[in-house]
Amino acid sequence: MSFDVTSFRALFPQLQREIEGHPLVYLDSAATSLKPKAVADALYHYYTHDVANIHRGAHYLSRQGTEKYEDVRTKISKWIGASRKEEVIFTRGVTESINLIAHAYGFEHIGVGDVILLSPFEHHSNILPWKILAENTGCRLVTLPFDQEGQLDQQALQKIFTQKIRLVSLMLYSNVTGVRLDVESVLKMAREKEVVSIVDAAQAMLHESIDVQKLDCDFLTFSAHKMFGPFGVGILYGRYELLEQMLPYQSGGSMISSVTWDKTVYQDPPFKFEAGTPNIADVIATGVAVDLIQSSPLTEWVKHGRALGEKIEAYLQTQKKIKILSPLYTQAKKTDIISFAYEGAHSSDVGEILDQMGIAVRAGHMCAQPLMAELGVAGTVRVSLAPYNNNEDIERFTTAMKKVGELL
Ligand code: ALA
Repeated sequence: MSFDVTSFRALFPQLQREIEGHPLVYLDSAATSLKPKAVADALYHYYTHDVANIHRGAHYLSRQGTEKYEDVRTKISKWIGASRKEEVIFTRGVTESINLIAHAYGFEHIGVGDVILLSPFEHHSNILPWKILAENTGCRLVTLPFDQEGQLDQQALQKIFTQKIRLVSLMLYSNVTGVRLDVESVLKMAREKEVVSIVDAAQAMLHESIDVQKLDCDFLTFSAHKMFGPFGVGILYGRYELLEQMLPYQSGGSMISSVTWDKTVYQDPPFKFEAGTPNIADVIATGVAVDLIQSSPLTEWVKHGRALGEKIEAYLQTQKKIKILSPLYTQAKKTDIISFAYEGAHSSDVGEILDQMGIAVRAGHMCAQPLMAELGVAGTVRVSLAPYNNNEDIERFTTAMKKVGELL
């Protein structure tokens, strides 16, 4: 399947916008991707034609909404290779998914002296729920010695697993450096040692096909808004046997089979974990985003992004004041994220100057302060690409960076 960036760009109305009199160059897709019109249309359609609450109504619109919502669950379960649709839980996003596991699994099964393994690259969403668990239970957090290219010394890994490891939670791609972590070797060890494993695939879904059976993880989570979908929808895959054993995370409507003052019987997964009225319209619109990804040439997207990313890196490497924090494409399997520090300038100043020329990047600590400390920087400028970026975006970025150089 070939890939035509011009026709792909036409799906995203926001690319017609001007910012400060300049056509928008959107280089912040790791924060959130742009949304295709079809996704916005699906939301509009639900709110103007279909509105009803689901899973409980006796009427046509409720049944129709339930069917559409549950169809998305089925679609996603097939997309990620889950063994049954009940392994897919809808949450608010990766943050809520990890909090759900920390509460519903962690507080029940992890205690004093137990160890949770993370990577040094983690986003705050995969640090803070575990820190809170540690503060409350007396378990310990240990970071695995991944190198800058996401690789692990196998002997070090063996040694770490001699401790009382109870859970390992790793991001697949760093949202700061774009590097893919070698999660496979850790997941293999976790399976051998019967340690529960979580993969945070937030930055992965536009970059590689995910198969939870092949990865052999217990949980995997990602957010719709980083893959052309709406805000407020997270997907949490969980192995059914584990979900069955876990207590609910939140309680209320929809998640019970029966309630008396003396006894509550919860529904089976996934409903046990979806208390209250769900985010119906956004889940249905997420299905449209998944259709778009599934009908697109992922390998061509990867080649396209890499070609653009290499041009950016090649340019940044020629700049004396710039230090790229991510290993270059040739040395590591990366998603199209390039972070750099600008000597003598604050990252937000660089971001602001770029913004004045219509170029959207992220600047700051990237919600990964422990990694910033390890890298010895207060913050970075991050350029993150998606398949709708084109050569002109890269030319506009490099021209704008020349202007940054003149001003700073
Ligand atoms: N996690 C998102 C980012 O890296 C918000 O920008």
